[in-house]
Amino acid sequence: MPRIAYVNGQYLPHSDASVHIEDRGYQFADGVYEVVPVMSGKLVDEARHLDRLERSLSELQMDMPMSRRALQLVCDSVIERNYLTNGFVYMQVTRGVAPRDHKFPKGIKPAIVITAKQTKPQSTAVLEDGVAVKTVPDIRWRRRDIKSISLLPNCMAKQAAVEEGAFEAWMVEEDGTVTEGSSTNAWIVTKDGILVTRTADHDILNGITRMGLLEVAAEAGVQFEERPFTLEEAYEAREAFLTSSTNHVTPITRIDDRSVANGKPGSVTMKLREAYLDRIARE
Ligand code: PDD
Repeated sequence: MPRIAYVNGQYLPHSDASVHIEDRGYQFADGVYEVVPVMSGKLVDEARHLDRLERSLSELQMDMPMSRRALQLVCDSVIERNYLTNGFVYMQVTRGVAPRDHKFPKGIKPAIVITAKQTKPQSTAVLEDGVAVKTVPDIRWRRRDIKSISLLPNCMAKQAAVEEGAFEAWMVEEDGTVTEGSSTNAWIVTKDGILVTRTADHDILNGITRMGLLEVAAEAGVQFEERPFTLEEAYEAREAFLTSSTNHVTPITRIDDRSVANGKPGSVTMKLREAYLDRIARE
């Protein structure tokens, strides 16, 4: 079945879809993106993803490439044309095409690409055994709240993790605090049973899954704190997990060469995971 991509106003077979060589996304990583989960053919948390897209664009003095309503219709059409049931929609907006010059060019149209991908359900092994993370220094810029397509440090971090057999990298600041994963947010349940995830300021991307899970935790009566936590605290934690649009809530059972508690997915993690999946299925 051919995959269909939306590129600047046209629906094209994936293999024929292309962008201009002077697109500023290609030359400067001058653009932003969103990954929106799709369940049963519907976008999950669509409004929040579009809010974040708008915010990322406005922080970079860029306009939305089309109205929100039009964007929703294009996403629905991409889902339909790809017969997508469960997976995600990827949207990328770049500043557009202009002769290479660092300053923002005036009067150009943003370029937009939207694709869709079907994904398999998480394996039972991941849910039964959890995953490992490897820690690496966080070498990124200071505006990680903007969902920029400039992801080289994230790719390097993930590569370092994969080379050591880990599923994800956790990035650590010079002060010893964990910021987030290469494409996921980081969470622990402390020795005292408190759920902790980093404050959503400029140091991390405020995950849409993160926001939803905090609401789920509040509803479930799980005590939580939004604050930086250190790697030492994570090593001592009772539970750890990661969240993202593509991994939902995934238990972590190893951090570097240490088991998290008894090396099994934690009960708070699995309870929150169930509650979160219920919430998005209900939506
Ligand atoms: N990544 N932190 C980073 C650095 C991310 O790239 C992501 C998402 C998250 C989690 O955000 P959300 O819950 O909104 O997916 C946190 C996407 C999935 C990606 O780059 O593929």
